[in-house]
Amino acid sequence: MNKIKLIEPYISFEQVETGLREIFNSGQFTRGPNVKKFSEDLKNYTDSNNAFLVTSATTALTMCLKTLGIGLGDEVLVADFSFPATANVVEDLGAKPVFVDVKCDTFNMCPENLKSKITDKIKAVIFVDAFGNPSGIDEVISICKEKNIPVIEDAACAIGSSINGRKTGNIADLTCFSFHPRKLLCTGEGGAILTNSDKYAEFLESKLMHGAKGLRGLGLDFVTYGYNYRMSEIQALLGHTQLVELDNIIHDRQKMYNEYKEYLLPIGFKAQKCDVVCEHNIQSAVFILPERINQLKLVKYLEENNVEATLGTYCLSGTSYYKNKYNDVQPNAWWLENNTITLPCHTNVDVDYICEIINKFLRTI
Ligand SMILES: Cc1ncc(COP(=O)(O)O)c(C=O)c1O
Repeated sequence: MNKIKLIEPYISFEQVETGLREIFNSGQFTRGPNVKKFSEDLKNYTDSNNAFLVTSATTALTMCLKTLGIGLGDEVLVADFSFPATANVVEDLGAKPVFVDVKCDTFNMCPENLKSKITDKIKAVIFVDAFGNPSGIDEVISICKEKNIPVIEDAACAIGSSINGRKTGNIADLTCFSFHPRKLLCTGEGGAILTNSDKYAEFLESKLMHGAKGLRGLGLDFVTYGYNYRMSEIQALLGHTQLVELDNIIHDRQKMYNEYKEYLLPIGFKAQKCDVVCEHNIQSAVFILPERINQLKLVKYLEENNVEATLGTYCLSGTSYYKNKYNDVQPNAWWLENNTITLPCHTNVDVDYICEIINKFLRTI
C-alpha cells in the first residue's frame, strides 16, 4: 500500500502543458502574461485592490513589515501558534516579536491577551489564520483600529477563507498568502501580498522592482533601494491554473473534515472551532487529541500503517531560539503544540481507513 500523504498538490502536468510550451516558445520567463493574469485573478477572487506575487509567504511578510517601516527597536505582536516564519521576519528586521497567546478552541490570537500586551512600542500586529481559520480577526482588527495599529494577516494557509463574506486579502491592512506545496494552491515555492491601500501598493510596486519608479533617459529611474522577490512566469502559470478550481478544492476538504469529525468527535477528539460568520478552507485537518492519547505514539503508529501525520504547528515562544532569547512561553500555544494532530486531507485520502487505524491504536492503550 502506498503511503497516504498529508497533502498532494491539486495540479497535473497536463493542465499546464500548453502554457509551459507557450512560455518556452516566447522566451519570457519573468514579468509576462502569466504573472499579470495570476495577480489580476487574485485581485478579482479576493476582491482586493492590489496583489503582488512574490517568492514565498516569508518574503511577503518581510515586505509587509518593510511597508510599515518596522525596524530596529520596534515591537510587533505575533500570534504564537504558527510556523516560525511569522516571528522570524520580525526578528530579522531587528525588531522584537512579542508573543500573543492563542485560544484553545479556534487556535487563533486571543483578543484579551492581545489587549494586555499593547504598548507604545508596538508598531504592528501579525494575526495568523491557523490552518486557514480566520475566526477572531474582526475583533483583533477593531481593537487595533482604536489604537491606530496596522494588522498584517498571515493568511499563508488561508486563501479562499472568509469572514462575513469578505475573503482573506480584503480584510486586514496587508495580507500574505503562501503557495508552498502544503497549501491549497501550489506553485512550488511562492506567495502573494494583498492590500486595499494604494499608498502601500505604491511602495511595494517600487521596492519589488529594485526601487524603480518611472523612467530616466533610456532606463528606469531608481528612486530608492529595493529587492527582487518576484514570482516567475512558470510559477504564476501554476497559480492561475489552480485558482479556477479553488472553490471546489475547498468544498472537498470541508466535506472530508466533516467526515473525520463524524468518526473522531464521539471518541473524544475535538475539532478546531470556526466562528459561524467564517468560512474555513481547511488547509489542514487538525484535531485536539483526547487526554489519554500520546501525540508522538499516535503519529508513530499511523506512520507504521502508511499514514503520514504530524503535530498541528509550533508554539513559537517555546522554540529553542525564542525561548532562550525571550523566555516568554505562552501556555495555550505550548499546550496545542503538544496535544494536536494533523491528519491527511486531499482527494486520495481514505478517511474510513485512517479512522480505523486510530481506533485500532485506541485498543492498544
Ligand atoms: C502561518 C505560516 N506563515 C508563514 C509560512 C511561510 O510560508 P512560505 O513557506 O511560503 O514562506 C508558513 C508556512 O508553512 C505558515 O504556515
